[in-house]
Amino acid sequence: SILIVDFGSQVTQLIARRVREAGVYSEIAPFNAAEEAFERMRPGGVILSGGPASVVDEGSPRIPQPILDSGVPLLGICYGQQSMQAQLGGGVDRGDSGEFGHAFIDILDSCVLFDGLWAEGESHQVWMSHGDKVTELAPGFRIVASSPGAPYAVIADDDRRYYAMQFHPEVVHTPDGARLIANFARHVCGLSGDWTMAEFRATKIAEIRAQVGKGRVICGLSGGVDSAVAAVLIHEAIGDQLTCVFVDHGLMRAGEADQVVSLFRGHYNIPLVHVNAETLFLNGLAGVSDPEAKRKFIGKTFIDIFEDEAKKIGGAEFLAQGTLYPDVIESVSFTGGPSVTIKSHHNVGGLPERMNMKLVEPLRELFKDEVRELGRELGLPDVFVGRHPFPGPGLAIRIPGEVTKERCDILRKADAIYLEEIRNAGLYDAIWQAFAVLLPVRTVGVMGDGRTYDYVLALRAVTSTDGMTAAVFHFSSEFLARVATRIVNEVRGVNRVVYDYTSKPPGTIEWE
Ligand code: XMP
Repeated sequence: SILIVDFGSQVTQLIARRVREAGVYSEIAPFNAAEEAFERMRPGGVILSGGPASVVDEGSPRIPQPILDSGVPLLGICYGQQSMQAQLGGGVDRGDSGEFGHAFIDILDSCVLFDGLWAEGESHQVWMSHGDKVTELAPGFRIVASSPGAPYAVIADDDRRYYAMQFHPEVVHTPDGARLIANFARHVCGLSGDWTMAEFRATKIAEIRAQVGKGRVICGLSGGVDSAVAAVLIHEAIGDQLTCVFVDHGLMRAGEADQVVSLFRGHYNIPLVHVNAETLFLNGLAGVSDPEAKRKFIGKTFIDIFEDEAKKIGGAEFLAQGTLYPDVIESVSFTGGPSVTIKSHHNVGGLPERMNMKLVEPLRELFKDEVRELGRELGLPDVFVGRHPFPGPGLAIRIPGEVTKERCDILRKADAIYLEEIRNAGLYDAIWQAFAVLLPVRTVGVMGDGRTYDYVLALRAVTSTDGMTAAVFHFSSEFLARVATRIVNEVRGVNRVVYDYTSKPPGTIEWE
């Protein structure tokens, strides 16, 4: 296994993900708990993350001495590199200016990290994000790659098996980064790379049992993939100590609520309380058109209903949630910027504090595609597991302006046609999210001999790896024309269809 020592970087979980992709089990421990984790795990290697601190500052985080004394291989990234150099006798200085974004580094020498990947004399793209930099190498190290902005871009001490880099190999903007990390895990640490999702499942099941004991757990289902996978995993761990509550706000896509209910009751036989609250939600949304007001109302009402049901069930001390890693960081700060609230996500926060329950969140370190893989591992049907992400507030945030039953029904119908055409064209899995948005704007059209004055529908489709950034999906114009024609012909109330060509950033994926 590999221990990742977290110095507080925004992207530490991405390191864990890359290690998992290399087929090696990993755990993350904050720097001040790393010694304990190290003793427990006895890992084959340690990766030191980046972080916001400056090693020049007094009291800044350090690598625990027992890790340095153990002789285990190390890979230092950014702050991890600086801390390693400072502790091993090198020099680190506060840079007068930082370096952020794409950079090219020159490969100066061969290195085990570059095996099968980079060779001397080549130049390769990496992602830099740092203020401080190494100014003097600790004894035993040599420079194997460098750039004008980062002379110590990659350094190596082969005898001690210590390696370090100034840039971030864990982010997708370093195209070969995943393979650099895999080379560290396999070639430097000699780990075999045969860890699988099946083992993740077994590990989590053991952890859930240890955490919950004989206690009772309640799990809120949103109708989406994440909470369903969490619930099925927890049920496998503790059986009928789990009760699921599905608060159905009536704002789901066509047919989805029924699918969830039949999957849980029929297929898995998991105890499920299904609360049909469509009327309550629609009544509360009447007259509300501000996006945050909608989100807040839906989030609060969801929690109120859930709390009532939990009381009725009684005796549960644990609350299970399908929180994923991107939910965790997006709710802390958005794409690396200062902590401003772009949107209030209704599935994280709020509930735990209010209900004074202990949290069970077995998916907290996973990314969406990993959750899908785990879902398949647990036997969830492919069409369910492969479903595009769907926001907690549902169709309400895909209807700018006031949400009414009539508008929801129009949108559901149009959305279903769009998705059906996408599936028929074999494009569904190539797209991260595709959906329709019903605009509160009417325009004039002509159908047959008559004038129409109906809503505009916008279609959106994006590709993404984690929902944090997204690119527009390019359909053929024939495809878009076919969808537009079908929708205008088959959905009463829509007489015009447009396509959204905005990436994220600057747009967000959802319209509200
Ligand atoms: P945005 O629109 O912020 O969306 O670019 C990023 C991803 O998050 C989903 N999303 C939500 N998911 N509760 C959720 O569970 C929410 O309140 C919520 N709002 C947006 C969105 O669908 C996209 O996948």
